[in-house]
Amino acid sequence: MAAKPDARVPRHIAIVMDGNGRWAKQRLRPRTFGHHAGQKAVRTAVEFCLQRGVASLTLFAFSSENWSRPATEVSALMELFLKAIDREVDELHGNGVRIRFVGDLEAFAPELRARMLGAMERTSGNIALNMNVAVNYGGRWDIANAARLAAEAAARGEFSLAELDEQRLNSFTCLADQPPLDLFIRTGGERRVSNFLLWQLAYAELYFTDTLWPDVDQACLAEALDDYARRERRYGRTGEQVAAG
Ligand code: IPE
Ligand code: IPE
Ligand code: MG
Repeated sequence: MAAKPDARVPRHIAIVMDGNGRWAKQRLRPRTFGHHAGQKAVRTAVEFCLQRGVASLTLFAFSSENWSRPATEVSALMELFLKAIDREVDELHGNGVRIRFVGDLEAFAPELRARMLGAMERTSGNIALNMNVAVNYGGRWDIANAARLAAEAAARGEFSLAELDEQRLNSFTCLADQPPLDLFIRTGGERRVSNFLLWQLAYAELYFTDTLWPDVDQACLAEALDDYARRERRYGRTGEQVAAG
């Protein structure tokens, strides 16, 4: 008989990788130095999820609001994404990681978009870990996009508008085919969601740490999972009902 998955291990973790700029500032270096340093923590998080048997890891790499940053920082980030895809995809693929870029990809330069689509295509058969990289992503965009896609499907006659319920709308959101979000982690000390997975956060457990993203290591992630394992997820029920199963 197959082992029952341990409910104390989240199946789907999302991380707001925040604090790169402050990490660099502490070292009197430019902000982009922090973004470069943050790549090591991404590798750590992927290895950690593979070891723990987490099914999906969703990383916030670039928000729809981050275009408002200085042009030099935005272009440095684009350059970094391009290089990171070229450098990391072989190893991720070798480790059975399925990569998906989620967000409005239309806004990216054709070269970068082609690399993103190439990485998604190449790793599409992998099953060890779903790694979703949220780029030009906004939670409100995700909901509005789902609503538009659903309306288009209804107009094609696939279902009537009266049948458009939560479950159906959910099927048009970015991460619909993956386990529900269990654990939301934000590093860098801010206690806010910053327009990340608004729809998916409905019943996620929230975890905030002051650790700046480039300083995140296995121990820091283990602490988040230990904290998660102690939570009682009631989904509206009473503690007694949960204990009774
Ligand atoms: C998060 O770190 C990375 C991105 C938004 C791309 P920040 O760049 O926001 O770092 P802080 O918050 O300024 O320290
Ligand atoms: C959220 O961090 C976006 C990413 C980590 C990619 P920000 O640093 O952009 O969020 P705010 O501006 O502090 O809310
Ligand atoms: Mg920040």
